[in-house]
Amino acid sequence: MEFVICDDIKALGEKVKKLALSELKNKNYEYSKITSRPFNSKKGLMWQLEKTKGSQVFHENMTEADFLLWLSTEGKETYRQICLTAEGTTVHYTVFPDKVKRKETGNSLKVKAQSHNKEKAYILKQGENIPALVDLGVFSKELTIVKSKYDKFKQINRFIEIIDDVFSKLNKDEITILDFGCGKSYLTFIVYYYFTEIKKVKAKVIGYDLKEDVVKNCNEIAERYGYTDLKFYVNDVTKGELYEGDIDMVITLHACDIATDFALYHAIENGVPHIFSVPCCQHEICSSIKKGGDYDLLLSHGLIKERFSALLTDSIRAEILKECGYEVDIIEFVDFAHSPKNLMLRCKLKKKKAPQLQSIKELTEKYGFTQKLFELIGKEK
Ligand SMILES: C[S@@+](CC[C@H](N)C(=O)[O-])C[C@H]1O[C@@H](n2cnc3c(N)ncnc32)[C@H](O)[C@@H]1O
Repeated sequence: MEFVICDDIKALGEKVKKLALSELKNKNYEYSKITSRPFNSKKGLMWQLEKTKGSQVFHENMTEADFLLWLSTEGKETYRQICLTAEGTTVHYTVFPDKVKRKETGNSLKVKAQSHNKEKAYILKQGENIPALVDLGVFSKELTIVKSKYDKFKQINRFIEIIDDVFSKLNKDEITILDFGCGKSYLTFIVYYYFTEIKKVKAKVIGYDLKEDVVKNCNEIAERYGYTDLKFYVNDVTKGELYEGDIDMVITLHACDIATDFALYHAIENGVPHIFSVPCCQHEICSSIKKGGDYDLLLSHGLIKERFSALLTDSIRAEILKECGYEVDIIEFVDFAHSPKNLMLRCKLKKKKAPQLQSIKELTEKYGFTQKLFELIGKEK
């Protein structure tokens, strides 16, 4: 069954919404056009065909396998124009006897016509009724992604996928999560939704942020949807009191500068088993580091100094976490195009231990910089 449209349907998977066939090649064929839509049933994935004959419309259901077979044989022989509508893209095909002309109009969600290269299905889907996402302005009222929020949607989706990879192996039915610097709280809401609605787990999720108006709005939305264990607090995490009961996970997504250090410190202090932290605005080292050794070349130009300092900050954080007993991976959680601040520290507590931080101490002395997590951990000794 070699037919480009079948390949595209398979590659797009759940994103496919509709396939419309029109312009008869064989004028004697009884149906002038057919519009077909996929749907899930007890028998698996099915297609409903709406067939137009004069002013009458007939319906027929087929399994996906039968539909693709029909499409690659009778459908291909009968119709000249075929239009595939999927999330984010529309593909028009003109079917000639010897070739198929294919024209894609749509945005960045280009079809990849190789089914082996199929994109992983999102955990959160466009079109899924997540009302909080509409209130937060990520989804429109029609449940499509608001264009300006596409990068944010991609980030929170990926974040959830990473959490899902870990959580699916944990076998837990209750979970407590703290989100530091939650801001408008797209991620916080989605984490709560993921655990309570998708995983059916009892979740307690707390978000901290400096901004009163944002926290108030988030609490109102949480209340509106009966999210009883999702709470937001106005709290400067560098000095405020933080939840200290059993915590399963600490998350941060672009929590500014040293707010990330306080989140990591709180996790270390409380023996939190899982940390997912995407740092941002790593200003501390950049504003304190001085020339004086092997890295001077990297400190001579503002831009390079800034990037080098950010990488040094996250390397030091990773090293401290490792020294405190965590297994740490630094991963690119989304493509650079979706956020230039795209490094995530993914950490899992192996066994809490007393850290040896001599090499970091030497670095700070040699270059005269301060680093908050190092300072906080150092104070304990
Ligand atoms: C770039 S926003 C990220 C918001 C959200 N996590 C997201 O990804 O959409 C950073 C947030 O961190 C908050 N923040 C910065 N410093 C903080 C602190 N010391 N305590 C609490 N929140 C802080 C800011 O108010 C801001 O809302």
